[in-house]
Amino acid sequence: MARNQHAVIWTRLSGTPEKMGNLVLSTQQVSFTYTQEYLASSRTGFCLLGDGSIWGADTVTYPISERIPVFPRLLTLIPGNNPRNLQRRHYLDMLRAKSGKEPPPGLETEWQLLVMGGHGGIGHIDLFMDDITARQWYRSSTDSYEADSVVEIKSSRSQLWRMLKRNVLDENVDFDPQLIEETLGPTPSVGGMIPKLLVSMTPGDSKPNFHPPGTRHKRDVVLKIEPPEYAGLLDLEALCLEIHREAGFEVPAYHRYDDDGLHFLAVERFDRVDGKPVPMESLFSVIATGNHHFRETGDILLDELGGIFEQLGQVARLDKNTQEQLYRRILMALLTGNGDLHLDNIALLGGLDECRLAPIYDPAPMRAWPRHNLLSAIPFDPSAYADHGAFFVELGRSFGLPAEGVHHAILDALDATSSYVERVMELQRVPIQLRNQLVKIVQQEHLLLEKQFQ
Ligand SMILES: Nc1ncnc2c1ncn2[C@@H]1O[C@H](COP(=O)(O)OP(=O)(O)OP(=O)(O)O)[C@@H](O)[C@H]1O
Ligand SMILES: [Mg+2]
Repeated sequence: MARNQHAVIWTRLSGTPEKMGNLVLSTQQVSFTYTQEYLASSRTGFCLLGDGSIWGADTVTYPISERIPVFPRLLTLIPGNNPRNLQRRHYLDMLRAKSGKEPPPGLETEWQLLVMGGHGGIGHIDLFMDDITARQWYRSSTDSYEADSVVEIKSSRSQLWRMLKRNVLDENVDFDPQLIEETLGPTPSVGGMIPKLLVSMTPGDSKPNFHPPGTRHKRDVVLKIEPPEYAGLLDLEALCLEIHREAGFEVPAYHRYDDDGLHFLAVERFDRVDGKPVPMESLFSVIATGNHHFRETGDILLDELGGIFEQLGQVARLDKNTQEQLYRRILMALLTGNGDLHLDNIALLGGLDECRLAPIYDPAPMRAWPRHNLLSAIPFDPSAYADHGAFFVELGRSFGLPAEGVHHAILDALDATSSYVERVMELQRVPIQLRNQLVKIVQQEHLLLEKQFQ
């Protein structure tokens, strides 16, 4: 890919689509320049540390690598690279049909996937090939929003079910991709390992019907579809959302459905308010944009996160409880067996002038699965401590909490998870050996933390 690639970024932040600026990808770096009009509007930029209030008319640049081949903020607009990702499958099929050959793995294909699916996703930025494509897309997505139309709901629903059975359950059934597109619109990219769609629906429907995102009088949701290799995952995730809610964390409304062999968890989106997008950026993206040597979650230690927020606090108006909230989430992850609290599972909502932690999402206790049985996806070094329980106590100090505050946070987390083991054992769809493994793990973590105060 010797030539420069061009794209544009637009946003509907104000309620009306407007262009933010121009993006250029070369072999060495990616760069972005705001339009004069967008700068004059003083609206939030495309990412926190690339905001117009910091860069002005200067071009924002980032040195690309194989691991991060675009601005870190744009990574979530590329469909996740795993075989179950519905969007990647769909867009690769389209590329294959267009070119008549297998899309080669690498930067060129990733860029094409970004341009095809980089709009209408999570957060406030929409990426397109050019301004004409942007205008057309907004026009057609407004049409479906206005019309509140769902073509032939019955037949398209059965087509959608067939698509999911084929792509998630590996059943040998055919479906019509055209009908799916007509029903749900071109499907925007969404990250993560579990197959998911961005759709809207009516909460409380006993049998869910899904509509394009943004449909009037419906709720926008992230719809997760459980793959057979993770039987019971969505029940565990729903339980963990519930436990966090009971403990006073901010948790989006969610709905669990089972239908015709398919299992769904629909989580209401917090990156939309009254149909308008809210800026949302993962901690991964914020750190990688600020530190060009940072390339993956493993490049930072848990006890360095407090310092990251201190630094961020110098340019952004951060909610004052952010550090304590994050420490409390880390304790909950430890005590529920969620070793998968990586830097894409923590995000910030808002712009530089008002920024806070996003509500809880993806709290699934992945340690139930032996191959995901990792204490913490963000690494730490407990070698200087008697045990890792002692490390997690000390960790609270690195988030700026006084000893008393740390003690409170730990007692609260122990209390909030006191019924967890019992409730895990009630989840019949989770294979019994996984329930046993999870229970054993969390009981050990409980004992370790309790021991610190005896
Ligand atoms: N309720 C929500 N509102 C807005 N965005 C959300 C919501 N839930 C998830 N997201 C976004 O979608 C992405 C994928 O969701 P999630 O992390 O739940 O999926 P996953 O497949 O379980 O991820 P992982 O690969 O971490 O296991 C998140 O990183 C986040 O950006
Ligand atoms: Mg996730």
